[in-house]
Amino acid sequence: MTSTTWDADAVRAAFPALALNDRGLPRSYLDAPAGTQVAGRVISATQQAMVEAAANAGGAFRTSRAADALLAQAHAAVADLLGASGPDEIVFGLNSTSLLFSFSRILSRDWRAGDEIVLTRMDHDANVAPWLIAAEERGVTVKWLDFDTESFRYRYEDLDDLIGPRTRLVACNHASNLLGTINDVAAIITAAKRVGAITAVDGVQSTPHMLIDVQALGCDLFACSAYKFFGPHAAALYIRRELLARLTPLKVRPSSDEMPWRFSPGTPSFEAQAGTTAAIEHIAWLGEAFGGADPSATLRDRLRCGWAAASAYELELTRLFLDGLATIPGLQLYGLRGDNEQADRVATFSFTLPDRSAREVVAELADKNIFGWAGSFYAHEAAHTLGINQHGVIRLGLAHYTSRFDVERTLEALAAAARTSSSRL
Ligand SMILES: Cc1ncc(COP(=O)(O)O)c(C=O)c1O
Repeated sequence: MTSTTWDADAVRAAFPALALNDRGLPRSYLDAPAGTQVAGRVISATQQAMVEAAANAGGAFRTSRAADALLAQAHAAVADLLGASGPDEIVFGLNSTSLLFSFSRILSRDWRAGDEIVLTRMDHDANVAPWLIAAEERGVTVKWLDFDTESFRYRYEDLDDLIGPRTRLVACNHASNLLGTINDVAAIITAAKRVGAITAVDGVQSTPHMLIDVQALGCDLFACSAYKFFGPHAAALYIRRELLARLTPLKVRPSSDEMPWRFSPGTPSFEAQAGTTAAIEHIAWLGEAFGGADPSATLRDRLRCGWAAASAYELELTRLFLDGLATIPGLQLYGLRGDNEQADRVATFSFTLPDRSAREVVAELADKNIFGWAGSFYAHEAAHTLGINQHGVIRLGLAHYTSRFDVERTLEALAAAARTSSSRL
């Protein structure tokens, strides 16, 4: 394997939206944690599916066979993306929130009053609210793994006290959508496994930045959303094979008991699955073009090389961005910043500027065609733990399609915003 130099312009050319400008003003898309730009091949694959495979699955005729093939390909591609042991461990859904809600119903069926579950405070509410509701319905006690508000890491030393013989489920997040911390989910899962608890990992914010290996993590469920990794609005859930037969699905009676139908009620979005396959192929292409992968290597190997190349580039931009943020007087960053911590975070940065409301600042950025968000992004417990007020924080995120120019002009715009004093808080 020989690695090739990263060519940011060639990568950006793979995303049609990056060529758009508004009366000559370029766009900088720093809203990636809320949803990334879409790779051109995703748009083509989606269109192709709607032209060539517009039929329901399971028929004898050509378009239905094409739809079947497309579903098989998409499940296989997600299995490779996540390191699952086979496509039968993958189900698709509309989004991660609804997948987690439906699995909370399925998993909680046999919970009994007095059982316990452990939730983690950094999560997006998609991996909290479904379990809270199920726990309330079943009379199950909820325990929490807290994080340290200085180090922005979980208090892993509390795990042994929190997890016990009555623990039925431990739900945690891989990377935080607010702080960017990549959590040591393997440690959490190991503690959960000791007592036979089921583990549900929200991987929505890690999957767009790194190679996931659900088998190495050892989790039972792992959720990811394709629109966060350069694809269409769709989500996929990994379910460990041993669980599949044990769980009672929520399904209509005539539908097949085979995977994926067993846990995929209703007609799927064929076009979104075709687009998801293409998004995964985009990362494999990065592996071939810039990561030294042999085009004939397995999809998993090409993805490994793709992520290695993309994350090295993201790390460079992370350094540039963090160094720039450090020069802005009074800026308060919520997240890891140390030189030796940059590999423990994804490129998602939440911060406030002194005496400026986050909403005002993102509106000023928007005037300069720099796209970002203000708020707390459904990281409900984390925002509460950190005492983030109702105005929220500014959140900007980088992806492998972000340019140095995007980073530099954003830093300039933030420095200008910090200089503008405002007492309209
Ligand atoms: C960490 C995390 N989990 C879950 C979700 C919800 O994903 P979806 O929109 O697919 O339901 C998000 C969306 O922002 C997220 O960032």
